[in-house]
Amino acid sequence: MELTDYRDRFPILAETTYLINHSLGAMPAAVAERLAEYAQVWASRGVRAWAEGWWTMPLSVGDQVARIIGARPGTTVMHQNVAVAEAIVLSSLGPVAPARNRVIYEAENFPSVRYLYQAQRELDVVVCADAAEIVASIDERTLLVPISHVLFRSGEIQDVPAIVERAHAVGARVVLDCYQSAGIVPLAVEALGVDFAVGGSVKWLCGGPGNGWLYVRPDLISQLSPTLTGWQAHATPFAFEPELRYADGVARFLTGTPNVPALYAATPGYDLIEEVGVERIRANSLRQTALLIDLADEAGFELRSPRDPARRGGTVTLHVPDFEAVHRELGERQVICDFRPGAGIRLGPHYFTTDSELARATGMIREILSSGRNRRFVGASARF
Ligand SMILES: Cc1ncc(COP(=O)(O)O)c(C=O)c1O
Repeated sequence: MELTDYRDRFPILAETTYLINHSLGAMPAAVAERLAEYAQVWASRGVRAWAEGWWTMPLSVGDQVARIIGARPGTTVMHQNVAVAEAIVLSSLGPVAPARNRVIYEAENFPSVRYLYQAQRELDVVVCADAAEIVASIDERTLLVPISHVLFRSGEIQDVPAIVERAHAVGARVVLDCYQSAGIVPLAVEALGVDFAVGGSVKWLCGGPGNGWLYVRPDLISQLSPTLTGWQAHATPFAFEPELRYADGVARFLTGTPNVPALYAATPGYDLIEEVGVERIRANSLRQTALLIDLADEAGFELRSPRDPARRGGTVTLHVPDFEAVHRELGERQVICDFRPGAGIRLGPHYFTTDSELARATGMIREILSSGRNRRFVGASARF
């Protein structure tokens, strides 16, 4: 099947040039059926639905994510978002001793991640500019190293192995945020040796909101006892025991009642990613991001994302004059993309994007700039 044959699976592609899959991936049409199925199950099965699959969905859907991120079954659980998933990670490493209270992270981590660690008074947070500085900063005082596989602003792929090696040499743990890589850049979290990986489904996985996930290194699962917990983490939740007894497997990293409708909505996007295959998606993404870079060079736009294919994620960031206003103007023409302050316009094609859409979008940016229409909305604010 040609990649463009998948276009009719995504209703929004009939109406728009959808280049914002690094932010909110296009919704597969099958999501509507899955949500109807959820309502039907609730309506007809009522409370029996818990025993018939709802209760274990954070694990069964987690197993599907595990396949996509290169992890074995029984290592990955679903959560609301990355902030919650990383908070659970941190809670599993305590109590924090003053001699090992450092968190080394990069300035370009996503805000959810930065804010979470900044808010912990017992932690000494060290902010680094890049992977090399992270490696140099890790020492015996380091508890945790939260990093991003692909940086959200620049789309740059990080040197994860060097960081993992250094962290493990001094007994520190690494949590890898794969939000911007899962579904677009081949990923093997187990082979990378990271202690934890987190991500969500809003972007390239096209799984929608409410579907964050947490992977825990298989040999660590039974050694850790997260203090951010709930009854889904209990060995026998339906015994309603007064005391906490953790489940044996990765369920011990769960909290309370799962977000069932979100979990229903997640799987059509994952199914398509599995059907197409991340390797094939990556090959197409590298080709199309190279095309975008060529088009940008031709037009004289400044590139704010990596040229090197080995460092390039799925997004191309273009810094053009008044990019906020250019973005607004593109939106009026049904070209959906976004921008980030200090960076520029972000274009994120996915496997269903056509080359002619990329030519059209960059052509429009050119035309907006040359016609001076970028001056119309100067001062517009960043929104999603
Ligand atoms: C790298 C990265 N991490 C995390 C998030 C989101 O964090 P959360 O799931 O806490 O909303 C995003 C974007 O929304 C992201 O790009």
